[in-house]
Amino acid sequence: MSIEQFICKLPKCEQHVHLEGTLTPSLRYSCALRNKVLIPGISSLDQLESGRYPSNYDYEEGQDGSDYLREFLANYYAAMDVLITEQDFFDLATEYFEKARSMNVKYAEIFFDPQAHTSRGISFDVVMNGLIKARDVEHKRSDGVRVQYILCFLRDISAESAAETLQLGLKYKDQIIAVGLDSDERGHPPQKFEQVFIDARKAGFRITAHCDVDQEDTHNNIDYVATKLGGPRSDAPDMAKSYVDGDIIPAYPAGADRIDHGLNAADLPELLTTIKNANLGLTLCPMGYSKHLGPERVFSKLDTLWKAGIPITLNSDDPAYMCRWKQQVVVDVQKHTGWTLHEIAQVERNAISMAWTDLEFKTKFR
Ligand code: HPA
Ligand code: ZN
Repeated sequence: MSIEQFICKLPKCEQHVHLEGTLTPSLRYSCALRNKVLIPGISSLDQLESGRYPSNYDYEEGQDGSDYLREFLANYYAAMDVLITEQDFFDLATEYFEKARSMNVKYAEIFFDPQAHTSRGISFDVVMNGLIKARDVEHKRSDGVRVQYILCFLRDISAESAAETLQLGLKYKDQIIAVGLDSDERGHPPQKFEQVFIDARKAGFRITAHCDVDQEDTHNNIDYVATKLGGPRSDAPDMAKSYVDGDIIPAYPAGADRIDHGLNAADLPELLTTIKNANLGLTLCPMGYSKHLGPERVFSKLDTLWKAGIPITLNSDDPAYMCRWKQQVVVDVQKHTGWTLHEIAQVERNAISMAWTDLEFKTKFR
């Protein structure tokens, strides 16, 4: 069996994928047609598919090497204009599930960005109804992907807006496993959302946050997320019960339950120690960074994290834009790292250990 075949057969998890980042040109085009929304400068699907965007993540780098994130985000938000009805959100989620199933992804925790829709006048309920119905259909399939949703706050808008969004999310508490933090990190450190995350944890949500690569104050942001975000872990004993022996059990009295990206932790031995002591896992998207920062830098940091024994998972982030879905990410990472089949399988075991789901499912997965 080739390595590709092994990776394809391996049951996989995905824990860092933005639902809106799975919007393919074809779905974008069909939503535009049925909703009568113009895509500026586009009059055919061919034109959209062959254009620089959205199927090409070849964005420019700024002086600090990180402007690709802002350029990407501008395109990412603009593309969402076509998502208007419950059916659109249903189709968006369903397309991702189909793709995930075809790659043997058995479990996915999926971010969505409600403020990117409510700010356009789309109601929170429309978004949630589409997502929930799609998941209900998926969960009825014997080969269906087990799905959980993570509500992300957009860090480049106000903490008040995040607090209002949390209130809207409470109505769907049973349908949303966690809250996260994404979008443009520059000038928007996690401290800005201190109270929102404390409230979210009190309401029973798991806590995670993006610490994107090479951003302003990246090391401070990682430290804050690892040790303070979300405030006291009042539920730590209960959480521990839902983990299997040898799994990741949070050890710090405060801080997030996970970090999204966090690659720059590799720069500082003290941050590695902090993350280890907090027993946090990192959801990495190495092929996304590799494009902009160069494979040498990315894979040497990844090696540092791996050797430090920090649980990492491999993810696609915004696969419709980055041209790589989960299967291809794992294949490409294996080529860069030379990891053995055993090591690749270990990464997927890390992922299921970090999953916010029940023990019975985790045990079956292994
Ligand atoms: N970083 C920050 N925000 C995002 C991303 C990302 O990679 N994708 C979608 N929102
Ligand atoms: Zn992301």
